[in-house]
Amino acid sequence: MGKRTINKKRLDSTNDLNKSMLAIAILAAGKGTRMKSTQPKVLQKICGKTLIERVINNCSHLKPDRKFLIVGHEAQKIQRHLSFYNELEFVLQEPQNGTGHAVQQLLGVLKGFSGDLLILNGDSPLLKPETIKKLLNKHREKNAEATLLTASLVDPKGYGRVFANKEGTVKQIIEELDCSQEQKKNKLINSGAYCFNWNKLAKLLPELNNKNSQAELYLTDIVEMFSYATHVQVEDPLEVAGINDRIQLATCEALIQERLREKWMRQGVSFTDPSSCTLSEDCIFDIDVIVEPQTHFRGDCRVGKNCRIGPGCLLENSSIGDNVKVIHSVIKDTKVGNNSLIGPFAHLRPETTLANNCQIGNFVEIKKSYVGEGTKINHLSYIGDAKLGMQVNVGAGTITANFDGKNKHESLIGDYTKTGANSVLVAPITLGSNVTVGAGSTLTKDVPSGSLAIERTKQLIKSEWSLD
Ligand code: UD1
Ligand code: CA
Repeated sequence: MGKRTINKKRLDSTNDLNKSMLAIAILAAGKGTRMKSTQPKVLQKICGKTLIERVINNCSHLKPDRKFLIVGHEAQKIQRHLSFYNELEFVLQEPQNGTGHAVQQLLGVLKGFSGDLLILNGDSPLLKPETIKKLLNKHREKNAEATLLTASLVDPKGYGRVFANKEGTVKQIIEELDCSQEQKKNKLINSGAYCFNWNKLAKLLPELNNKNSQAELYLTDIVEMFSYATHVQVEDPLEVAGINDRIQLATCEALIQERLREKWMRQGVSFTDPSSCTLSEDCIFDIDVIVEPQTHFRGDCRVGKNCRIGPGCLLENSSIGDNVKVIHSVIKDTKVGNNSLIGPFAHLRPETTLANNCQIGNFVEIKKSYVGEGTKINHLSYIGDAKLGMQVNVGAGTITANFDGKNKHESLIGDYTKTGANSVLVAPITLGSNVTVGAGSTLTKDVPSGSLAIERTKQLIKSEWSLD
């Protein structure tokens, strides 16, 4: 584990006994057996983002002095996935003997550290940044040795139960598997997010034992060893959701989706069948957009005002201007100008830009192309690596033959040019402006502006012809 070694500068800074130092550790070493997957659990996605990315992003605002990720099962896969988070220090937990054992792995790397340690479960992706801040603030205000984040759940099944008195002093956490029937009735649960005074925690960690139903070292057992532990209770139970299996994954996804749709409905977007549509958190809509059934937005999408998108569309990382209609189409990494009509059954592929007032119709595929203002490509075409001017009329079945078997080549088509039905433009090729291409032509040579190009055998007529 390359990043396991501590760099010197950081060690020096941990030596000054500044009380407000903060380290964060995210636990992500577990296999996630209940997920039944070849993927490590924390790489499962909700609304297009992995659980672990969400957890990391949720606490990035705290600007900690150290940030650890405890990895074990499929450690390298997780490390690769997170390689662009430079500040993360990966710590290996091998084997994985429970959450307490996971935190014990910090004893070496945090030796000499003085300050607070915030621990987050890698499978609790919905904690709000402000809630985590609240937890840390309360911990510091109260000068507590241990502060945990709790919630009161209608259905606390599966979570560790927190036993606290009215003053908020936490006495004990008991895992559900170790609870008596009576203890299971306690609805106050452990979210898996905690703040600890590191020096105190470091002294207690070696005392954990595995005398429990799973024969693991539970981090939760540490709480009763502190002289004073307190808790912060969150109001929104969704925030503390831990994702252990695919049912929880789906429930969580559905809840976020519902919230996203509601957010946009409040801001002027209509959904004709809300539950059949999905959004990403990075989508932005202007007002009076109508989203028809079975329409999905992924990644970073922007939709202008008065658009009607759907039914049956998939848009990904694309921006759509105002007054655009899209029906039964797939649009990815594309920019669409205002007042355009797309579909049914169009496929706009990456690096495509449509200017304003374009019409892209039935069974048309466009890739890495620029389509000028007012241009129409209405039926059965493939346009790839092309630049089309304004008010071009691309006839039905026109194909840009952009690939010679080895390389891709460009087609340039000037303003007001019209291609006849079933034209093949063999790239590289330039058609000037105001060109007319006769139907059925396969063009291999450039065509100057203002001319007609036809390439086909002469039609032969044999009169008085009969097979008999
Ligand atoms: C844990 C808590 C439980 C709490 C719940 C909240 C313990 C013993 N229980 O239970 O009180 O209500 O979270 O969601 O802590 N992990 C490691 N190394 C290990 C085992 C787990 O890094 O050896 C990581 C996992 O990858 C996961 C996190 O710790 O991200 C929690 O582990 P998990 O097995 O899901 O704990 P729960 O049973 O959900
Ligand atoms: Ca869990």
